[in-house]
Amino acid sequence: MAQENVEILWNRSVSPSVMHMGLSSKTSCIHALPGQFVMLRTDHTKDPLLRRPFSIHQVIRENGRCVGLELLYKVVGPVTERMARMKEKQVMDLVAPLGKGFDLPEKSRNVFIVGGGIGIAPLVYLGSWLLENGLEPENCQVFIGGRSHGDVLCADLFEAMGMVVHRATDDGSLGLKGRVTDLIEKRLEIEVPDMIYACGPHPMLKAVAALSEKKKVSCQLSVETLMACGICACMGCAVEPRENVGGYKHVCKNGPVFGAHELKW
Ligand SMILES: Cc1cc2nc3c(=O)[nH]c(=O)nc-3n(C[C@H](O)[C@H](O)[C@H](O)COP(=O)(O)OP(=O)(O)OC[C@H]3O[C@@H](n4cnc5c(N)ncnc54)[C@H](O)[C@@H]3O)c2cc1C
Ligand code: FES
Repeated sequence: MAQENVEILWNRSVSPSVMHMGLSSKTSCIHALPGQFVMLRTDHTKDPLLRRPFSIHQVIRENGRCVGLELLYKVVGPVTERMARMKEKQVMDLVAPLGKGFDLPEKSRNVFIVGGGIGIAPLVYLGSWLLENGLEPENCQVFIGGRSHGDVLCADLFEAMGMVVHRATDDGSLGLKGRVTDLIEKRLEIEVPDMIYACGPHPMLKAVAALSEKKKVSCQLSVETLMACGICACMGCAVEPRENVGGYKHVCKNGPVFGAHELKW
């Protein structure tokens, strides 16, 4: 983990409420793994607001060396509103990489990647990491859901990696009209993967956990809670484990990624 002042490389809008930001980084990006997150403060000198957590959406490499991080963020309140107004070359204060990311298999496997809304953010780095480490793109099915077509994010990035993308929207404006978990349920009738990776709203994670349990598939879920510190000092991010998995877990330290079987849904 490192704390550093990072410069904004770009900050672009990808939809009316979602922005894509690139940050230069000298130290914190070097050991960043898929599923880990950063704690960010918008003003490195006088910001009175607490740092906010954001998933590592992608790492930026130059000649194989890691030189930065990408974030994908939804504008929902004071900090993200301030972020959205920031320009290239402005400086922010970053602590990263934090938390426990996805369990990454050593060998090529057959996987499902499932993202709901802005929950797709950490799954792009996961997808590219899996490909770089031997997964064949045809062995990865990607399922992306959102309320409407504008909430189905990053499908083009997965398609550019050669993966098959399935889309679902609540209002039927793109792909299947229904839930992303309806798509997974259908696909599970055709093939059962070795692993399901998912990130998104709690009801989606709960449904994915139930499907994985029913089909006896390993499943890793990235969970979001409110976080005040990000370094296991405030105890504010506790989540309830299953009865047989010990005491309360802290999302910032024991997660944000958990095995589906670890938590009480
Ligand atoms: C590990 C982790 C990774 C995250 N990754 C991303 C990401 O990649 N992209 C992204 O856009 N957001 C991500 N978030 C959520 C992000 O941290 C919040 O949206 C952000 O802190 C909002 O700050 P704000 O000051 O703009 O709004 P706030 O005023 O702090 O929040 C606005 C509203 O959103 C609710 N809210 C804030 N954080 C959460 C949360 N974690 N869960 C549920 N509701 C929340 C608040 O209760 C409030 O109603 C992540 C959260 C966690 C814990
Ligand atoms: S956010 Fe403070 S203990 Fe996890």
